Amino acid sequence: MCCGRQKARNWRYKRGSDRHILIFNINKLYILCFEPYGWYEIGVAPESSATRVSFKKKRYNMEQTFDLFGNPIEQKGNLKKDFGANPFSILDTKDGLWQARKRKWINMGIKSEVGRESVAIHAGTDDYRSIKNKEGYNNRDNYVSIFDPVLCELMYRWFCKDGGDILDPFAGGSVRGIVANYLGYHYSGIDIRKEQIESNVEQAKVILGTDNMPKWYEGDSNVVLDDIKEQFDLVFTCPPYADLEVYSTIQGDISNMDYDDFIFALESIMRKCCKKLRWGGYAIIVVGEVRNKQGNYYGFVADTIKLMQRCNGMGFYNDCILATSLASAALRANGNMKNKKLVKVHQNVLIFRKQQ
Ligand SMILES: C[S@@+](CC[C@H](N)C(=O)[O-])C[C@H]1O[C@@H](n2cnc3c(N)ncnc32)[C@H](O)[C@@H]1O
Repeated sequence: MCCGRQKARNWRYKRGSDRHILIFNINKLYILCFEPYGWYEIGVAPESSATRVSFKKKRYNMEQTFDLFGNPIEQKGNLKKDFGANPFSILDTKDGLWQARKRKWINMGIKSEVGRESVAIHAGTDDYRSIKNKEGYNNRDNYVSIFDPVLCELMYRWFCKDGGDILDPFAGGSVRGIVANYLGYHYSGIDIRKEQIESNVEQAKVILGTDNMPKWYEGDSNVVLDDIKEQFDLVFTCPPYADLEVYSTIQGDISNMDYDDFIFALESIMRKCCKKLRWGGYAIIVVGEVRNKQGNYYGFVADTIKLMQRCNGMGFYNDCILATSLASAALRANGNMKNKKLVKVHQNVLIFRKQQ
């Protein structure tokens, strides 16, 4: 970065605008310019002379630019560039880079909400129980629960070997399959609803072409998994969040079961998936807490961790928070707080590893 920087102890910084930050030392001048995806050092005056300005351009990660005393921190490489996002236990979907990547995926034509005739919701919200019974409710624009393509991309890159095989027992929309095969992985997804599978196949044909199709199986995973003989490198799924969003009345659809039956069926399905996971492979489950009829949380996240730990060889390896949009949270806050319910702005990404 800059010679003698470590020696400096009297840094001062001043925020000029939300796009620039100026840092002065007696003999040195740093100008750090905020860009949507990081910090760029655009000017450095060497210690010996304030007039001999040599310009360097170097990229910094915002989170690691300064230490407690305001000193810039030397770092090798760039985390976001190297990993696609900061590989931290909080995955921030509001981040500019994340949003830009998400737009790219969506612009490819992925429509994960298609294939669901039931009312669509913003998954994990507290207000679903009050809106779902409203007559004529079909506010897809505001409440569709679309799985985040960037989360797929990151989980695949971080936890699956290149070209690996991915199993998803609750496929839902097309996104997990399309992102996987687009990136060179081989996806197999199961969903109990015929219309969902048909819609996914239709979208994948257009986006990926017929020679690179994910495999989608129609049926109850509890049954279908018995007939799948392959082994997989990654299990990645997002099950129904209990009965938060009821997908169908089909027998075996775990979203229409009472909570105890739901957990029992979920465990049975995950157990079968984990058996098909290669040793050293990861199983990633995206879940969110759900309230019961008394307004208390079921403890679904904790139950999911416990049921996964009961599956052969599975260890709870990473615990991530998926920080979601705050936009509609502000609108819901007043209503929620009448009952002292904090607005939920996160989901949980639970990561397990199969160890011998
Ligand atoms: C939470 S959704 C996926 C939602 C996710 N946000 C998305 O769109 O990708 C779960 C899916 O599980 C399916 N499902 C429920 N019970 C099932 C079962 N026993 N076997 C296979 N799929 C099932 C539902 O039809 C639904 O599409």
